[in-house]
Amino acid sequence: MRPTTTSGLLLLLNLPLFSLAKATIDQVVLSLENANPGALQYPTQFTQDIVPKFIHSHNDYWRDVPLLTALSMGVMSVEADVNLFNGTLFIGHENAALTPNRTFDSLYIQPLLRILDAQNPSTAFTVNQTTPNGVFDMASDTPLQLLVELKTDGVETLPFVLEALEPLRSKGYLTTFANGTLTQSAITVVGTGNTPLEQVKELSPRDFFFDAPLMQLNDPSLNTTWDPTLSPLASTDYEVAVGWVGIGNISEAQLANITKFVGDAHSRGIKARFWDIPGWPIVARTNVWTVLMNNGADWLNADDLEAASSF
Ligand SMILES: *[C@@H]1O[C@H](CO)[C@@H](O)[C@H](O)[C@H]1NC(C)=O
Ligand SMILES: *[C@@H]1O[C@H](CO)[C@@H](O)[C@H](O)[C@H]1NC(C)=O
Ligand SMILES: *[C@@H]1O[C@H](CO)[C@@H](O)[C@H](O)[C@H]1NC(C)=O
Ligand SMILES: *[C@@H]1O[C@H](CO)[C@@H](O)[C@H](O)[C@H]1NC(C)=O
Ligand SMILES: *[C@@H]1O[C@H](CO)[C@@H](O)[C@H](O)[C@H]1NC(C)=O
Ligand SMILES: *[C@@H]1O[C@H](CO)[C@@H](O)[C@H](O)[C@H]1NC(C)=O
Ligand SMILES: *[C@@H]1O[C@H](CO)[C@@H](O)[C@H](O)[C@H]1NC(C)=O
Repeated sequence: MRPTTTSGLLLLLNLPLFSLAKATIDQVVLSLENANPGALQYPTQFTQDIVPKFIHSHNDYWRDVPLLTALSMGVMSVEADVNLFNGTLFIGHENAALTPNRTFDSLYIQPLLRILDAQNPSTAFTVNQTTPNGVFDMASDTPLQLLVELKTDGVETLPFVLEALEPLRSKGYLTTFANGTLTQSAITVVGTGNTPLEQVKELSPRDFFFDAPLMQLNDPSLNTTWDPTLSPLASTDYEVAVGWVGIGNISEAQLANITKFVGDAHSRGIKARFWDIPGWPIVARTNVWTVLMNNGADWLNADDLEAASSF
């Protein structure tokens, strides 16, 4: 709740409303700010005024400030590539890019913990709240999707990722499937890359989900019933699934593929994402984004967050 009017502020501060008659509203606001700045703040202001958007921050850790840059633009999904070495998860696209202090814990887990702790003050006003607030102040029930791309061997790496999530798990911040019920929380973690499907299926309770293959949701050889309790997200390489470069007209076959794959996902309650979208020329990228969004794709996969957030 955010007081938006001067009378609201006066009520909040327990001042008589007649003050309004004696001064202009601006003067009242100014004197209130000078007198009691603390009372004008509220605990969960971190992402105040940021409108969450269905944008996926591809290789998020390349940004000046990982995670926070994306959140500041309302980006609802971020991608972290993790590499297991000597029992530690390092963040980076390839070995040459790894440094000792850029870890999954330092770049993602600890910042998320700090943000969510700030968004979830324990006060007399929150005693009855059963689900934690998410990172977005304007839409506290909107989860952040954390896409974790396992770069090293999946079976070996997964247990370390699950362990790294423990500080978030123990505070109830993770979306969880347990006892037949999917309970949404502040962060939905989805594994991609080398994430081992069978190991994710076996997780019970499950708070680490699987990025489904968008082009193969009907493929019986995968021996899997795809639904949001296993896969809230399904993705595919745009180049392979569609291929239209964004210049000239899209072919009927290309358009039919978009519609089909998006339909396969939506009929199961799964959200669809296309990655490897042409990034240049800008007009081509804009055309592709437009066609994807107009045909039901849920996530805008973006390297240029600024462009995507104003798209
Ligand atoms: C892993 O540990 C070994 C032995 O302590 C060390 O020589 C090596 O540099 C470490 N590798 C990384 C990537 O930290
Ligand atoms: C990370 O380590 C590098 C050198 O290894 C150092 O220059 C840098 O200041 C460190 N950054 C942080 C945030 O600790
Ligand atoms: C919490 O629930 C109790 C019992 O229903 C109620 O008396 C109390 O007013 C509630 N507190 C808040 C802050 O909603
Ligand atoms: C699932 O059910 C078991 C047994 O009834 C219970 O102990 C456990 O707390 C439940 N787990 C969740 C996450 O609700
Ligand atoms: C299919 O999946 C089920 C359940 O996960 C598993 O028990 C079975 O072994 C799988 N079969 C094949 C052929 O992979
Ligand atoms: C459409 O998808 C199929 C796979 O279902 C693929 O073989 C085909 O190349 C795609 N068509 C186009 C035009 O990309
Ligand atoms: C592209 O589509 C438009 C509108 O459907 C049509 O008028 C135009 O002739 C098409 N261009 C080509 C090169 O097929």
